Amino acid sequence: MIVAANWKMNPAFDHAADLATAFASQSFAQIKRILFAPHPYIVPISIRLNGTTLEIGGQDCHFADHGAFTGDVSALMLRECGASSVLLGHSERRDAHGETSDMIAHKTTAALAQNLDVMLCVGETKAERDDKMAEQVVIDQLQASIPDHAPPSRLMIAYEPVWAIGTGVVASSDEIASMHGVIASFLTDRYGANHVPSIVYGGSVNADNAASLFSIPSVGGALVGGASLDADTFSAICAAAQDAYRLRADL
Ligand code: PGA
Repeated sequence: MIVAANWKMNPAFDHAADLATAFASQSFAQIKRILFAPHPYIVPISIRLNGTTLEIGGQDCHFADHGAFTGDVSALMLRECGASSVLLGHSERRDAHGETSDMIAHKTTAALAQNLDVMLCVGETKAERDDKMAEQVVIDQLQASIPDHAPPSRLMIAYEPVWAIGTGVVASSDEIASMHGVIASFLTDRYGANHVPSIVYGGSVNADNAASLFSIPSVGGALVGGASLDADTFSAICAAAQDAYRLRADL
């Protein structure tokens, strides 16, 4: 189980440092926790996380290691600054920055070359769901965003229906289970049943809905936006993931 915090362009630095310290003071033995922090925070926060189980990652990277790309940050830079992973293809970047799946595949290649793990986001808009195109959209995104050579052990897939992000509307259990099934079957075809990357859900996950989300067997964790800006809430989501893991493993 993976629980990842996506802080987006939040919060102010003092708050960020306090939150990271609070996250890091806890440990959830069976849960991988990743904090996707704004780029300027990666160095100061990774220093605070030294020796803890909380991993830190970037929220995007460029496909080149260096060059004349004003404002961009490379996977190499992220790794050298302490990141162990990167979030790629988030719908806010696909939408506001015009990122195509082809660009995301290049970024994924660059990140993997720098030994970063990649959490790759896919998800349909409301209009695409209403048009009954959701599955095809997600399959097309997977097909075009995952480079052929990407090792499954370094990939995590985040299914984030765009209409559920930041809206307080969570996809229903049936919608999540069905789309996770579609993604799992795509990944099984590509990698074989024993090498399917973790598939997490994102979109308005909070402390109240986490347990029911994690009761869906194909949900391998959560990508948490707004609710990751509160230490107690994020901790409650991690605890729900740990409970679900133990239940599944019959521990
Ligand atoms: P949200 O964001 O939890 O605030 O809906 C999730 C995300 O965008 O990753």
